[in-house]
Amino acid sequence: MSPDTEQWTPTHGEPYRPVAYRPDRLPSAESLARSAWLRERMDERRTVRHFSPDPVPDQVVKDAVACAATAPSGAHQQPWTFVLVKDAQVRRRIREAAEREESLSYDGRLGEEWLAALRPLGTDAVKTHLTDAPALLVVFQQRYWLGPDGAKRKHYYVDESVGIAVGMLLTALHLSGLAALVHTPSPMRFLSQALHRPENEKAFAVIPIGYPAEDCEVPDLVRKSLDQVMTEV
Ligand SMILES: Cc1cc2nc3c(=O)[nH]c(=O)nc-3n(C[C@H](O)[C@H](O)[C@H](O)COP(=O)(O)O)c2cc1C
Repeated sequence: MSPDTEQWTPTHGEPYRPVAYRPDRLPSAESLARSAWLRERMDERRTVRHFSPDPVPDQVVKDAVACAATAPSGAHQQPWTFVLVKDAQVRRRIREAAEREESLSYDGRLGEEWLAALRPLGTDAVKTHLTDAPALLVVFQQRYWLGPDGAKRKHYYVDESVGIAVGMLLTALHLSGLAALVHTPSPMRFLSQALHRPENEKAFAVIPIGYPAEDCEVPDLVRKSLDQVMTEV
């Protein structure tokens, strides 16, 4: 199905209509080569907080969003909206509002335990990435949808679905050569206002996208080993 020619509509209440699914099976050697390559590439991904202002190819961002939108979702409700913000004035307004919230957070609202968790990351209330990065993707969760009769209909597993989609977005951006940051200023209500989003949408994250600045630094982090994150029974 081509997304350009066929428009998705909610399938709520419709009968089960199966179609054949017969993807080619990859030979094991090819699978292994791909998984090893992917593992190495993904280990190179880092959250970037210092961006170059250089523009990024629009199509790469759109392709990454299209990849994210292939994510599985509860009852296939695809409860996500991605707002691409390139306008410098809108980015400036988002930064000002985010910094207002973040100042309150870093000045005490977070509490000592949270601040201690953030200390090794070197973050503070100044959010230059929101204006330095040439593009922001603001991700919204659709908490519910409106049926044809105007009644609110529930979306299922919204947090999980949008989290998975954002993971796929980050993977796509990284493998396409772009850097990103998942930024979650708290609370995020100002994003709905700044971007005129409808009532059923709640901001999930702001994702600045671009190339790392020439003098970009990242915290010296160590990831858990496979043994630490996986167990077999
Ligand atoms: C849900 C979520 C929220 C995050 N919020 C912020 C944030 O508000 N500001 C920030 O600088 N980094 C934020 N991060 C980025 C993490 O700090 C980062 O992923 C972590 O330190 C590991 O670094 P790495 O991505 O380079 O492996 C967030 C990440 C996630 C997954």
